[in-house]
Amino acid sequence: MDVLVIGGGGREHALCMGLMESPSVSEIHCAPGNAGTSIFAWNHDIDINDSGKVAALVKANGIDLVVVGPEAPLCKGLANRLQSEGIPCFGPVAELANLEGSKLHAKQVMQDAGVPTADFQILDSESNLDSALDKFSDNPWVIKRDVLAGGKGVVVTSDRDVAKSFIEESIASDGIVLLEAFLPGEEASMLVVMDESDFVTLPCSQDHKRAYDGDDGPNTGGMGAYAPAPIVDDAVYSKVIERIVEPMHTWCSNQQKPYRGVLYVGLMIDSQGDPYVVEFNVRFGDPECQVTIPLIQTDLGEMLMATACGRLSETDVGFIDAHSLTVVLAAEGYPGEVVKNRPIEIGEIEEGWINHAGTGIDDDGELISTGGRVLSCTGIADSLAQAKDVAYAVLDVVELEGSHFRTDIGSRAL
Ligand code: AMP
Ligand code: GLY
Repeated sequence: MDVLVIGGGGREHALCMGLMESPSVSEIHCAPGNAGTSIFAWNHDIDINDSGKVAALVKANGIDLVVVGPEAPLCKGLANRLQSEGIPCFGPVAELANLEGSKLHAKQVMQDAGVPTADFQILDSESNLDSALDKFSDNPWVIKRDVLAGGKGVVVTSDRDVAKSFIEESIASDGIVLLEAFLPGEEASMLVVMDESDFVTLPCSQDHKRAYDGDDGPNTGGMGAYAPAPIVDDAVYSKVIERIVEPMHTWCSNQQKPYRGVLYVGLMIDSQGDPYVVEFNVRFGDPECQVTIPLIQTDLGEMLMATACGRLSETDVGFIDAHSLTVVLAAEGYPGEVVKNRPIEIGEIEEGWINHAGTGIDDDGELISTGGRVLSCTGIADSLAQAKDVAYAVLDVVELEGSHFRTDIGSRAL
């Protein structure tokens, strides 16, 4: 089959690489893609938030399956449009993508389904902010905007003034904001591939969201990840399945149009090993995808197609017994204003590989940086320590002026 991957980051490069290794897949298309995907896929520079343009691209190229990377096109109804035209789509319809699109909606669903998550309060222009802040003052305040904010919609702070101004700004722009109880513990990401027939949990991973070593500095989209994450041991895993994944699968399957895609469950695991949901995303994580896809043994194209068609239960999904780790190389300035269009030099790689993200080709045919997270270097090995060595050895042969990366990816598990 011919597959179209929507998106152009490290996640989509990893998906394309997985599809390239799938015997069921003949041609790969990517929109818009990046310099990495252009090596083995047809890149198409279209507006991926315009469902009509995507549907037209699918028809013009005889594409059999669309795999959607980012959340925005899903929230705007890309899966609805493709399904209405009979085109299999891996990624949920807009009504279900709203689990990521609206934090309040996600909270309400979790309450209905009995899924453990932090207590919260909705604040609007009528609310008494001081008494609300007093109520949650034992820990840092967690404030979440109820809109898709590209990773900038959450503030966790112990500074009352910072908390108050973020609440006021959010209410001014969105009408409401969520004030949430702080959950202490360790985070992990569980990716659950699901349709109405079944669900499959992929190996759990751990992202590193802060910009600098030691979990310091501002929040980012993710500076590196590894899998499997040992914090999710057998006992924790069983609780996550029973308390979170099964109720969510039941809820998702009972909707008018069932969930067909991957549900990203952002977990906080407390000191007792009890899991809570921090967030849902309706897509693969980035960079979690880069360390999870390589651990899937099954034909990726077949698994994604089966899910898109509601017959995941007919597919046996197996995993490789290995460890993977990826380190993000970020451009100067990231996660603030970034410097783009700098040349990237890549030396010889002995083991491991590079997942391209913000990369492009300039008019002279040279590889250049085009985004904040430029690429990630990935290793897979029998142990996490070896995977880390491989990933950092790959990073060693990459040169990009002003770039930065974390040197401690995986260290918590190691
Ligand atoms: P979110 O976009 O909801 O995942 O929030 C971004 C980050 O903020 C998460 O990855 C956590 O590190 C942190 N966070 C969000 N909600 C909470 C919470 N209730 N307690 C503690 N940390 C949180
Ligand atoms: N790495 C976190 C995310 O993809 O949302």
